[in-house]
Amino acid sequence: MSGEKIFFPRGRQVVLGVCGGIAAYKACDLLRRLQDAGFLVRVIPTQSSLNFVGRATWEALSGQPALSTVWENPAQASHLAAADSADLIVIAPATAETIAKIAQGRAVDLLTTTVLASTARVLIVPAMHPNMWLNRATIQNVEILRSRGVIVMDPEVGRLSGKDFGVGRFPETSAIVSQVLKLSKAELLLEGRKVLITAGGTREEIDPVRFIGNKSSGRQGLAIAFEALRNGAEVTVVAGQTDPFELEGAEIVRVNTADEMRSAVESKFTSSDALVMAAAVADARPAMSSATKIRKNELKRIDLTANPDILCKVSQKKNRGQVIVGFAAETVSDLIKAGGEKLINKNADLLYVNDVSGGAIFGEDQTSGVLIGLGIEPVFFNGASKYEVAKSIVKNIAKKLEKSGG
Ligand code: CTP
Repeated sequence: MSGEKIFFPRGRQVVLGVCGGIAAYKACDLLRRLQDAGFLVRVIPTQSSLNFVGRATWEALSGQPALSTVWENPAQASHLAAADSADLIVIAPATAETIAKIAQGRAVDLLTTTVLASTARVLIVPAMHPNMWLNRATIQNVEILRSRGVIVMDPEVGRLSGKDFGVGRFPETSAIVSQVLKLSKAELLLEGRKVLITAGGTREEIDPVRFIGNKSSGRQGLAIAFEALRNGAEVTVVAGQTDPFELEGAEIVRVNTADEMRSAVESKFTSSDALVMAAAVADARPAMSSATKIRKNELKRIDLTANPDILCKVSQKKNRGQVIVGFAAETVSDLIKAGGEKLINKNADLLYVNDVSGGAIFGEDQTSGVLIGLGIEPVFFNGASKYEVAKSIVKNIAKKLEKSGG
């Protein structure tokens, strides 16, 4: 355990693309209203939009860098970072030019590259002169985008900049926010689901000052809890020893020993849709734990007795429809074979096999391993962040729940 506090950013993440039109100033209010609705907003202004609203405004309002090109921070591969973290991309205002680029699949700046590299839903909020909106070229580009599942809002009719009047006006902020909320809700993978997650390591007492423990920091289990919460699940975490953390919205049940963990899991399992056993449970405990401190000259050997395997016990009571995810810590070269045996023996639906050879992974933010399950192609991770694994696990739990009708 590093002792360093594990921090989970709150809320779902929106990338707000701002294009070069006068309505860019209205996007400042949109950003604020999205924050009020609980979204974490990162702004990607196009270069031309900076003529209307400067980078400093976006950075001050969002609290995050507001880059426009892929060349400003090449080491961080900003387009991929933004593309991966986005739950939703909102382009508001969107100009005819940016709409055309996206329709053509072009990647000419940070915004268009991010759109191309992301699997997130895209909401486009056009604002432009009526002649541009009603031009056949724009009409066709919008048709292309809509046929690909991009949501393009219709601009409003009303006063435009200068003396002009007509269709092309930026919609009211409240209309955009409700559209974002609707889309974001539809993207929640575990809404209405109850997910039970164990995290961290157990401690088995030898005497009042000594215990048998392990290196687990709880980071992987907590990342899954965070991802499940972000996807609308009701989350209970049964936590053994972990690094300190804050996880708003989850019920936290603290336990010490494997037996306490078993009892907490058993009492919550029946009402859960999914169980994720990410905890490092001690396989054995001292046969006798002493109520008084054992003197060093008496400390020659400790007899152990096996702990029950929580996962095995609980999975026997699995109802049709419940999804169980196990973990395995392995030092062998054939991870899939070793994990496959545990998957079957423990009656789990999914199993993440950690490659812990060389003492890696415990207490770290990165992990290497493979996610396996009946009926899914193995998903390999190499030096990936534990959030990435968490995302994949949550996605697969949602798929399994949907398939099993649970
Ligand atoms: N597990 C459990 N109860 C235990 C031990 C492990 O529920 N008493 C769970 C862990 O939470 C994990 C899975 O079983 O999801 C596999 O744990 P692992 O330590 O890899 O395997 P073991 O079953 O302990 O087998 P071995 O130590 O022999 O590899």
